[in-house]
Amino acid sequence: MSASVPKFKLSGNDISKSFTFGVNVFSGVNIELHNGELIGIVGENGAGKSTLVRLLCGVLTPSKGEIQFEFSGKSIDREYLHQYIGMVSPYLNLYEEFTAWEHLSLSASLRGIEFEEEFCARSLEQFSLEKRKHDHIRTFSSGMKQRLKYVLAIQHKPAVLILDEPSANIDSVGVEAVLRLIERQIARGGGVIIATNEERESSMCSRVVSLKKSW
Ligand SMILES: Nc1ncnc2c1ncn2[C@@H]1O[C@H](COP(=O)(O)OP(=O)(O)OP(=O)(O)O)[C@@H](O)[C@H]1O
Ligand SMILES: [Mg+2]
Repeated sequence: MSASVPKFKLSGNDISKSFTFGVNVFSGVNIELHNGELIGIVGENGAGKSTLVRLLCGVLTPSKGEIQFEFSGKSIDREYLHQYIGMVSPYLNLYEEFTAWEHLSLSASLRGIEFEEEFCARSLEQFSLEKRKHDHIRTFSSGMKQRLKYVLAIQHKPAVLILDEPSANIDSVGVEAVLRLIERQIARGGGVIIATNEERESSMCSRVVSLKKSW
């Protein structure tokens, strides 16, 4: 597969985040992701991996420092970051009253993109969900919901995939599907960030940002 993602750089420079005034979850964190890279965020429970993930997605703002995203030579504002990033995490909520297929259709319209049925059908197949696509999400198992999050995260073919606890709730077949997805993302010139406690996952990364628990 030839690279198709334009040149980009996602970076955080000297980032600090505190939720309580004067108490930093972390400080002085630097992170940088370019085309074709897989990087990791590691650290023990409570070290701030999910917090850093939320900062990189533009869901939270840093208390100090800046998150920057350059795409095709242009600097992208935080409010548009979601167009370039696909995120998967166990704490992300789905609209469970919809079927998987309806959710994909809804997400396409919320994102303002065309509902590419063939691409979505193929993605569902890659995550072994095609037979259940017309079932309500509330009837899915936790692993099936997690698999659907992957299908949703790649729907807009994002430049960057950010995966928090990539193998949470999924079985070994699902983990294989995730690994193949990461390979495809890298092959098309995209980038991947994984936040993980699993040595098996962080060892695949070319660089790792290690966070230390501050308490
Ligand atoms: N919304 C919030 N308000 C206050 N404190 C928060 C909030 N979110 C996270 N924290 C605190 O920030 C710290 C880091 O939490 P975070 O969830 O980022 O850790 P983590 O590295 O992802 O941990 P885990 O491995 O358990 O997923 C913790 O001390 C947590 O209590
Ligand atoms: Mg976390």
